[in-house]
Amino acid sequence: MVAALFGCWFRVGGARPGVSGPVIPVGPTVVQTSMSRSQVALLGLGLLLMLLLYVGLPGPPEQTSWLWGGPNVTVLAGLTPGNSPIFYREVLPLHGARRVEVVLLHGKAFTSHTWEQLGTLQLLAQRGYRAVALDLPGFGNSAPSKEASTEAGRAELLERVLRDLEVHNAVLVSPSLSGHYALPFLIRGHHQLRGFVPIAPASTQNYTQEQFWAVKTPTLILYGELDRILARESLRQLRHLPNHSVVKLRDAGHACYLHKPQDFHLVLLAFLDHLP
Ligand SMILES: *[C@@H]1O[C@H](CO)[C@@H](O)[C@H](O)[C@H]1NC(C)=O
Ligand SMILES: *[C@@H]1O[C@H](CO)[C@@H](O)[C@H](O)[C@H]1NC(C)=O
Ligand SMILES: *[C@@H]1O[C@H](CO)[C@@H](O)[C@H](O)[C@H]1NC(C)=O
Repeated sequence: MVAALFGCWFRVGGARPGVSGPVIPVGPTVVQTSMSRSQVALLGLGLLLMLLLYVGLPGPPEQTSWLWGGPNVTVLAGLTPGNSPIFYREVLPLHGARRVEVVLLHGKAFTSHTWEQLGTLQLLAQRGYRAVALDLPGFGNSAPSKEASTEAGRAELLERVLRDLEVHNAVLVSPSLSGHYALPFLIRGHHQLRGFVPIAPASTQNYTQEQFWAVKTPTLILYGELDRILARESLRQLRHLPNHSVVKLRDAGHACYLHKPQDFHLVLLAFLDHLP
């Protein structure tokens, strides 16, 4: 069982086509997955297709503008109603809306603006996803909130924001500090999540193996190869989530999505596109 869960590795990046074994070159990334063989095959196929598109383009990776949202994507902004309003940026699907909606939190040195600057919001809109990026209390345009001082308060705050914004099929993307919100929410309200993308989140050490085992949410664990502290600590705990895959971004630090945005976007889209 354990072997089946953890025994399946994609080795990617640097590897050349023709390497034997379960080694598929798709980008500077390592994927470990606990999904079933058919799901793995599907994901592999998706990644491979993306690689073919990726390498089929002329010029260095910096010029792969197909990956980025076009000029036509409008990023909306607003405040949630009520006493402690939360500022958010939102994009709507440009066409053919997907079922899941992506909710992006942020780390200590960042805000919702990070996901706009990085092109993540625009890209998601272009790929048919509604996406909402939040400013956590005390960051960006959201005022500090007393509610955020307790674990239960943070989980409730997140739950209320999802309700206010009518996000019904959330995939929660949670880097670093935002784990203080995402983890209590995951443990209590995972049935409300369609997917979870932790990126070296804080707070994982606060929960037990049994609590993680109970969470059936499909999870993509992402981290930067050079992140030696929080990534390792959180990975040790997040591995207990029964349906997870792990992607390590090469040559990327703690904020791996900033260091390797192309790889981050590829991997995120592959995960989102294959959610049931
Ligand atoms: C932007 O919208 C215009 C008019 O709706 C359309 O002609 C153009 O192709 C769009 N550009 C992109 C990059 O989608
Ligand atoms: C850790 O969990 C305890 C008990 O559930 C809680 O009181 C505390 O606030 C939590 N700490 C963090 C950082 O979430
Ligand atoms: C595990 O997650 C994948 C998506 O990553 C999903 O397709 C699959 O249905 C999930 N498996 C279970 C048993 O929930």
